[in-house]
Amino acid sequence: MNGLSMNMVTLLYLVASVCFIQALKGLSSPSTARAGNMFGMSGMAIAAVTTVALMFKLRATLAPGGMGFALVLLGVVVGGAIGALAARRVEMTKMPELVAAMHSLIGLAAVCIAVAAVSEPWAFNIVPRATVLPFGNRLELFIGTFVGAVTFSGSVIAFGKLSGKYKFRLFQGAPVRFAGQHWLNLLLALAIVALGLAFCFDDNPLGPAWTPYALMALLAFVLGVLIIIPIGGADMPVVVSMLNSYSGWAAAGIGFSLNNAMLIIAGSLVGSSGAILSYIMCKAMNRSFFNVILGGFGGETDAGAGSGTQEQRPVKSGSADDAAFILQNAESVIIVPGYGLAVARAQHAVKELVDKLTEHGVQVRYAIHPVAGRMPGHMNVLLAEAEVPYDQVAEMEDINSEFGQTDVVLVLGANDVVNPAAKDPKSPIAGMPILEAYKAKSIIVNKRSMASGYAGLDNELFYQPNTMMVFGDAKKVIESMVKAVE
Ligand code: TAP
Repeated sequence: MNGLSMNMVTLLYLVASVCFIQALKGLSSPSTARAGNMFGMSGMAIAAVTTVALMFKLRATLAPGGMGFALVLLGVVVGGAIGALAARRVEMTKMPELVAAMHSLIGLAAVCIAVAAVSEPWAFNIVPRATVLPFGNRLELFIGTFVGAVTFSGSVIAFGKLSGKYKFRLFQGAPVRFAGQHWLNLLLALAIVALGLAFCFDDNPLGPAWTPYALMALLAFVLGVLIIIPIGGADMPVVVSMLNSYSGWAAAGIGFSLNNAMLIIAGSLVGSSGAILSYIMCKAMNRSFFNVILGGFGGETDAGAGSGTQEQRPVKSGSADDAAFILQNAESVIIVPGYGLAVARAQHAVKELVDKLTEHGVQVRYAIHPVAGRMPGHMNVLLAEAEVPYDQVAEMEDINSEFGQTDVVLVLGANDVVNPAAKDPKSPIAGMPILEAYKAKSIIVNKRSMASGYAGLDNELFYQPNTMMVFGDAKKVIESMVKAVE
């Protein structure tokens, strides 16, 4: 291992970076997502093994006789085991909070590395022993610490809000607002910049300027909390993706200090893809991107409060057998899956139903809304799990023009993504793009009650004269439909 040259390290880091780019490319389509994941895992394995090998090589010169290597291996084993266990156990619908928890650790790691690099820069090969850190490195470490600290504390609050299990007020879905909040945030940001610059401009040969550095880090932790608490639970997934982006930039900042090209490339990829994803989600949820990233600046709705019960109005309801009869006599059917389908884990039953209908000569397709469910790509993952062929699955912009000519739309556990209220300028979800199910000749909606969806709004679609509600758990209802299709 000692024969590892720096050229070889650079080459391996380049290979890992190319793998990460291929991973992102692969993950952009369900048909290539598996290959994309393989690329991502290979890239990460190459990067981690190269880094450990490099450490092993440098150990003799940088930290002779130290425990560092054993501690790193212990960290890999313990951290890897916790990660593997958490990933195995997590339910698909709880994925956003797991991601938030992981981001908090990335932010904390960035802060810890920055503190270590400020304290002993020679151990990272940044400068020779007893040499003052150059201004450029101090600036990079200040930025890395600041972004890492905001990411850590912001992600912890996002985790709490998403899990909804904790009584602590800051972890509640409802926004926490107080007078002068944005001025306080601005003041803190200015104080952080001033302290950061004090740290950067201090080149005392006796050691780094710890006081402004530590105060800056402390205020950054506080700022992370303050910018996330005024954001309601409904916007939290966008926030998680934005924090994902921040964690990428924190890693890239640290990569500059450590002169690590792979960290810079991987961090920038995470930073930019997270920002693009946040933008796409904001568009699909009709939230203003800048309102969300600036921490609830402006008047966002407090949607996401959960499923409130609506006033009683008459609806037409039928049984699973009625629905099966209508479906098998249709020529074309579009299925709209939503969050309820994921909760009921009914994807395999739906596939069975579609196979039977296809045998009857019915043309069936699935329509996917970009924010159906609770995380980006939620419905695609669900349908892929049931091995639904990709050519049956259409994205919103490709299928929206076809609802008007479709015989039956079967809405399964979806609500907000088909709510025509989005067309009403006075509605809280005005302007949100929806799947235009209301245009179909007949609509069948399966859900358990008349309760609202994530946005907490009533849905006119359920009261249309050509809509039939089939109440019950999605899995049970669909299984009954499968039995009823002759
Ligand atoms: P929702 O609007 O949340 O509606 C889901 C419906 O499923 C509920 O009305 C619920 O009604 C029903 N349901 C729950 N459990 C069920 C079960 N076991 N069987 C049958 N139905 C069940 O879902 P959607 O249409 O997928 O829209 C997603 C919403 O989440 C949007 O508002 C979106 O903005 C928001 N959101 C999305 C994301 C991402 S990235 N996907 C992130 C955050 C927020 P009952 O209780 O009556 O059964």
